[in-house]
Amino acid sequence: MEVVILAAGQGKRMRSVLPKVLQPIAGKPMLGHVLSAARALDAGRICVVYGHGGEVVRERLDADDLAWARQEPQLGTGHAVQQALPHLTDGESAMVLYGDVPLIGEPTLRRLAEAAGGSRLALLTIALDDPTGYGRILRDDAGRVSRIVEEKDASADEREVREVNTGILVAPVAALRDWLGRIGNDNAQGEYYLTDIIGLAVADGVEVVTVQPDAVWETLGVNSKRQLAELERVHQRNIAERLLDEGVTLIDPARIDVRGELTCGRDVEIDANCVFEGRVELGDGVRIGANCVIRNARIGAGTRVSPFSLVEQTTAGGDCLIGPYARTRPGTVLGNRVQLGNFVEVKNSNIADGSKANHLAYVGDADVGERVNIGAGTITCNYDGVNKYRTVIEDDVFIGSDTQLVAPVRVGRGATVGAGTTLTKDAPAEQLTVSRAKQFSISSWKKPEKLPR
Ligand code: UD1
Ligand code: CA
Repeated sequence: MEVVILAAGQGKRMRSVLPKVLQPIAGKPMLGHVLSAARALDAGRICVVYGHGGEVVRERLDADDLAWARQEPQLGTGHAVQQALPHLTDGESAMVLYGDVPLIGEPTLRRLAEAAGGSRLALLTIALDDPTGYGRILRDDAGRVSRIVEEKDASADEREVREVNTGILVAPVAALRDWLGRIGNDNAQGEYYLTDIIGLAVADGVEVVTVQPDAVWETLGVNSKRQLAELERVHQRNIAERLLDEGVTLIDPARIDVRGELTCGRDVEIDANCVFEGRVELGDGVRIGANCVIRNARIGAGTRVSPFSLVEQTTAGGDCLIGPYARTRPGTVLGNRVQLGNFVEVKNSNIADGSKANHLAYVGDADVGERVNIGAGTITCNYDGVNKYRTVIEDDVFIGSDTQLVAPVRVGRGATVGAGTTLTKDAPAEQLTVSRAKQFSISSWKKPEKLPR
């Protein structure tokens, strides 16, 4: 089976500089979703027909398994498929998909391909209460498909037909080549209609069969931001339902966004308004509080991420407490039972088992040992404006509040650093290190008094 994806349409109604098929659903270009469906079918060849502004599309999504055919100008869907013919193989079947119909599902496409079976023309059709705008499926008295008529060319009677063409079809390549060579553009739109091949197939005695999708939303196209937003919600609802079926607790399935791949262990609980991006793995019993954003992260069993935390490119062990209001940036690796409290930022750092930074801290480019306590207001000064340096804090260290660790610097095992210290040299193990102006009091001090007016 070979696949042709029509993606040359401009999408003016998007009012965007981004070509229509690059507009995202769940953070991924619509065309990317269609490509995933095509690849899931193990298509022997995938040809994308692109057009106006399409170089961006090609640059963005090009891959070894894709062929690209330029359609310029765009003279209709039949003309579009013609551009792909040089890439198709006689003896194979070709499936036509649309780059702006992003939610088409693999099981539906498999059924369509099976119905076509190498010699038939198979159409994916749906029955709509309001068929406005679609091509209508016309059938003879025996119920066999005779042709498709576009809305603009249809008679009043034909417009009453509720069975419509989704545009997705499968046909033998050799026949497709022949039919496309025979279609004209003598119609209301002056376009070369792909749908005209149906009448030709019937005349040639080729059997035309129809298949219905598992769900109508699979066949919905996107021409506007409204429709894009509608399909985004459909897609997110589907993901949420799958997570529920897998046993994940979602406090509100309507308020979760997954833009990538979220895998969850048993008894995971996700509160409202969380966003998951890229690859995210949540271990058994993980709880994610409301309004968190988790991006490319692996979170170990029993860990709890409290509300309003942003966790990015982070690996966390088990039973950690992250947030509320924590931010972990790329390169964060947390051991087990690590605690990061409110307004704590961690970047490119390892923090080992049982260590804590519970309030207002910046830990960047650091290696923190086990059972370390990092006091409130502590920061690693990892950047001198040009270079970045590492801070090493060994096991069982206690860092007093408001400490600045000027990297490169090392705090030895079991050391205590006094509150307010600006550490510019290594702190020896087991000792108290403190850098602080001596405290003194002036006994004769009198508060200034307000002058009489
Ligand atoms: C087409 C079908 C119609 C069907 C409808 C479903 C034809 C003649 N009509 O309608 O029966 O009900 O889809 O949505 O096929 N495209 C190109 N190059 C072109 C023209 C279109 O690549 O020259 C692409 C578009 O980007 C889009 C797809 O083909 O992805 C369908 O085009 P569109 O104009 O939306 O479909 P219609 O012609 O209205
Ligand atoms: Ca059109």
